[in-house]
Amino acid sequence: MPISTCVFDAYGTLFDVSAAARAAAAEPGGAALAGCWQALSAHWRAKQLQYSWIRAITGDHADFWVVTQDALDWSMEALGLQDPALRDRLLKLYWELGAYPEVPEVLAALKAAGRRTAILSNGSPEMLDGATQSAGICGLLDAKLSVESVGVFKPDARVYGLVGDHFGTEPGDVLFVSSNGWDAAGAERFGFRTAWVNRAGEPLDRLPGRPDWIVDDLTDIPKLAETA
Ligand code: LAC
Repeated sequence: MPISTCVFDAYGTLFDVSAAARAAAAEPGGAALAGCWQALSAHWRAKQLQYSWIRAITGDHADFWVVTQDALDWSMEALGLQDPALRDRLLKLYWELGAYPEVPEVLAALKAAGRRTAILSNGSPEMLDGATQSAGICGLLDAKLSVESVGVFKPDARVYGLVGDHFGTEPGDVLFVSSNGWDAAGAERFGFRTAWVNRAGEPLDRLPGRPDWIVDDLTDIPKLAETA
């Protein structure tokens, strides 16, 4: 079945989630982060994901911006960073995360080949608007699908079902691309073709649902979509 639609996870896949702490550490007010921005970034991401999974299991949904702030608060406290101005700055930078360098070219190549492109993300619609606008990629996306329309986070199957609801696709027509191994696994179980973007050279997650492809970054996605 040819791939009609390429769907991308947002945070970590199109947008570099470590960029906020890295940029804040390099700014004049960021001295407190100089020795610990990597630890802050790692805690922030880990807690953000843990909170999303726990809220999906318990049914206590809150939007991803609330979860992102809660995760930052935990992480700053864990590292002894009590600095409201730094907190505000980190959140502003997170709202405006840049895309990885290859993203515009990859989306443009998919569009030129006649494929539909979309984001499917835990992010709230407002967060996705903020990030896609600051990355300048709004015009290269046919849809920005947010979990907010089903009120539960990935990897709940209802989230992956949003793609078919929006585009009328069968799961096998869709190539789903994520840098999160657990997200690629959830999408594979749903029936999508999947590519796991393993930028950090991590081991494959031991979960049901093995990705069809493992790539170092997004560069080869248009080629994969062509040959899939
Ligand atoms: C997302 C998170 C999982 O964008 O990165 O959905």
